[in-house]
Amino acid sequence: MQNVRARSGGRTNRTGSDEPVGVFDSGVGGLSVLKEIRKELPAEDLLYVADSASAPYGERSNAFIEQRAAAIAQFLVTRHAKAIVVACNTATGVAVDMLRARFPLPIIGMEPAVKPAASATKSGVVGVLATAPTLTSSRFSRLLSQHGADVEIVLQPSPRLVDEVERGDLSGGATRALVEEYVRPLLDRGADTIVLGCTHFPFLTALIREVAGPEVLLIDPAVAVARELRRRLEAGKLLSSRTTPGSEQFWTSGRPDNVQRVISHLLRHQVTLQSVPPEFCAP
Ligand code: DGL
Repeated sequence: MQNVRARSGGRTNRTGSDEPVGVFDSGVGGLSVLKEIRKELPAEDLLYVADSASAPYGERSNAFIEQRAAAIAQFLVTRHAKAIVVACNTATGVAVDMLRARFPLPIIGMEPAVKPAASATKSGVVGVLATAPTLTSSRFSRLLSQHGADVEIVLQPSPRLVDEVERGDLSGGATRALVEEYVRPLLDRGADTIVLGCTHFPFLTALIREVAGPEVLLIDPAVAVARELRRRLEAGKLLSSRTTPGSEQFWTSGRPDNVQRVISHLLRHQVTLQSVPPEFCAP
């Protein structure tokens, strides 16, 4: 993965404003971010990679997640990405510093929304739903010491929910039971604000709300990430100059037929999926 500057077709990575934005996640969760990017930046072409063969990242080692993030970023660079959004809290927590050091283009990461949650809570208790690697990352510890000092933050690792969203099951009995299992302890501790610290979870908002009730505030950082992408593209004079709607292309390292069904379900329109080339897949 050394060959950052090599691009297909002999082009260099001096990107023009009409090149696409790359977005990736361990699977389909990052689509919750892609949807916000599409609203914020309607003219941009978007490339989305679901590393489905490696999901869930929450059960992988940091070394594995770093290696996958580097391989996917390299793939997106070969597809002429002018910027990359790491639409995954886990990959951001573990690998975003490495990606920024290695790839000379804007790299925008996720950050569990502890800061807005700490200012919004009235009960003084904030719950965070995220994967174990996110909650144990040094980036997250920094976030807690910067913004969590004056409130109680209750951390809830929520691993198996990711699998349910990967299957496209947003409301079945197993998913509901897991939401109960993870959300109930936060409510019992007095949380009135819950941070959705995994990009898969905004797809479960209806179910989480059913369990948590209408008064509990759910915070998803995807809108802020889409705005940050706009800001970074503007600053780099990389915003698309087109006025026509941008395109979307999707890749997966998993089985395209399965993943295509789930992505089409989550986005509520039919998409076509391509396979990530084998040299960018996990060995
Ligand atoms: N969507 C991811 C995140 O934001 C990854 C979850 C996983 O693969 O475990 O953390």
